Amino acid sequence: MASLTVALAERSYPIYIEAGLLSLNSPLLTHIKSKRVCIVTNDVVAPLYLSQLQAILNDYKVDVIIIKDGEAEKSLANFEKIMAHMLTKNHGRDSTLIALGGGVIGDLTGFAAACYQRGVDFIQIPTTLLSQVDSSVGGKTAVNHPLGKNMIGAFYQPKAVLIDINSLTSLPVREFNAGMAEVIKYGILGDAVFFNWLETNKQAIKAGDREILKQMILHCCQQKADTVAQDEKESGVRALLNLGHTFGHAIEAEMGYGVWLHGEAVATGMVQAAQLAKHLGLLSASDVEKIITLIEYFDLPIKPPESMTFADFIKHMSRDKKNVDGQIRLIIPTAIGQSDIFDNITFAQIQQVI
Ligand code: NAD
Ligand code: GLY
Repeated sequence: MASLTVALAERSYPIYIEAGLLSLNSPLLTHIKSKRVCIVTNDVVAPLYLSQLQAILNDYKVDVIIIKDGEAEKSLANFEKIMAHMLTKNHGRDSTLIALGGGVIGDLTGFAAACYQRGVDFIQIPTTLLSQVDSSVGGKTAVNHPLGKNMIGAFYQPKAVLIDINSLTSLPVREFNAGMAEVIKYGILGDAVFFNWLETNKQAIKAGDREILKQMILHCCQQKADTVAQDEKESGVRALLNLGHTFGHAIEAEMGYGVWLHGEAVATGMVQAAQLAKHLGLLSASDVEKIITLIEYFDLPIKPPESMTFADFIKHMSRDKKNVDGQIRLIIPTAIGQSDIFDNITFAQIQQVI
């Protein structure tokens, strides 16, 4: 089994990656400190993987919360539902919350874990590509607010992350591709060798080659773990992981959560960031073309919704959590494999790429 560590001193934790990990030999039990466990999942993932997880936890007292599917469910209403359930079932501080699902379940459960009785342990079992390569690692937890995505949340690290590559076999292709946006992001923002590896292996990735997928997920988790270890709370280098997200979050919020998948919005956002970089003379036309070609290979959108105006973008981008003193902060690629944080981009320059 492949494994790596997110090195955060006393909050360090392992990430395990293997096909078939959700089996009886799972390392899960070594990370649970009492017999009380509460699994949070949704009505799509539960029929697929809940019984497997429950079988591992046979000797434990397990509660299950099943929420509805969808980005709109990453809400304060569901946060409250988890709190009420935990209290009604008399969970104490020694309980462990387990997130079984994609990024929506992981972010929501993590935030609930951060808050319940001022913090209980939680474990991530991410079942989408996006959550395996990104959201389950690094401790960003949140719910959405109608006025902005991920606006209510906490930095709160899990005790372990268990990635069973087999869960990708049931994932709809559109969701897999959305995860590829975050994978490609790692190459663009900080690793040209990985970007080239993706170009070379794109057919095997699309075909679902397990060994290639394992290598790819391992690489992404390692890159994210290294970044988080340097800058857990995003006061510096971690902001680079938001490449494409400032434009992307605006698309998600404006179109209504869930209409565009997060990864789809990020894909378009990365193209917009690359085009802005070209406009500023920071990135060559051929690099922009390479980025677009790889993104398009995974059937991801490269243009924002036609209905969205410049004002729509600015309205949402002005609320971005990265902004300082009201100035929009953008991550912009300056080469494939390199990006920087920019605080001085004008509205007029942004308008050029919208
Ligand atoms: P998601 O959780 O909505 O999952 C996508 C869809 O796949 C859902 O319909 C889900 O029910 C279904 N699904 C999950 N696992 C499945 C499986 N194995 N087989 C079949 N269907 C399955 O979305 P996501 O793309 O996983 O995550 C997106 C969320 O993650 C967004 O809310 C985004 O803001 C968040 N995010 C957080 C971070 C972070 O650092 N915390 C990073 C990136 C994204
Ligand atoms: N997904 C960006 C981050 O975790 O920082």
